[in-house]
Amino acid sequence: MKFIIFNGSPAGANSNTNVISEAFLNGAKKAGAETENIFLINKKIGHCKGCFACWFQTPGKCVMQDDMAELLDKYNSADVVCFATPVYTWNMTAALKNFVDRLAPLKSPLIVNTNDSFDLADSKTKTQQFMVISNCGFPGNNNFETMKAVFAACNPVLEIYRNCGKLLMSQKKEIKKTVNVYLQAVEQAGFEMATQNYVSDETKTKLEMQLMSIPDYVKYIGM
Ligand SMILES: Cc1cc2nc3c(=O)[nH]c(=O)nc-3n(C[C@H](O)[C@H](O)[C@H](O)COP(=O)(O)O)c2cc1C
Repeated sequence: MKFIIFNGSPAGANSNTNVISEAFLNGAKKAGAETENIFLINKKIGHCKGCFACWFQTPGKCVMQDDMAELLDKYNSADVVCFATPVYTWNMTAALKNFVDRLAPLKSPLIVNTNDSFDLADSKTKTQQFMVISNCGFPGNNNFETMKAVFAACNPVLEIYRNCGKLLMSQKKEIKKTVNVYLQAVEQAGFEMATQNYVSDETKTKLEMQLMSIPDYVKYIGM
């Protein structure tokens, strides 16, 4: 089983998003899965020009010469594809959105109507499962609402939304202790996904754990 994470944080490997991603992949690795962690910020990915050549002239192939051809092959080779991103202005980062737009070759120009909900058909039968990892700077969960709505169309098998993201790399002893408990739950989620293809309700509940009270967090980030 192969897991690929496409991380859209501008901070790349040093991102809070990657703290969660690494824990998840460690769990999957412990279960024997193959894993790959890709930092989109390090890749050359141009903006989709909307020429639709990838549908009508060279189906499945983009005219642009950049890293996307390699990334599409990787995407297609995975069993579980994960989009990982911090919340930037209530949404995914521009780096991830740019990558998502360039996934157009995976679609075909055939409109599908499911109960008056319109989308494009996949160019080949989709075998990948899809999941999301995100973190945001504020407490509470309202900052994930836009992203949840956007990704609902992809039927995610798992969504890990972590608020209070500034705590993930804290060096303070008590905070580190709590974050480690959280990251153990993330690792367990990776292990369960790789062994049973779903995450138990017990683990999902742990993924929702509060890292710090809202007043303490607001004080911690100095706002
Ligand atoms: C341009 C920008 C926009 C942001 N917008 C939001 C936001 O809308 N809501 C939120 O909770 N945090 C927001 N944040 C905070 C980030 O989500 C937070 O710092 C996160 O931990 C960064 O994760 P990373 O290290 O993985 O990049 C924003 C940060 C930046 C730089």
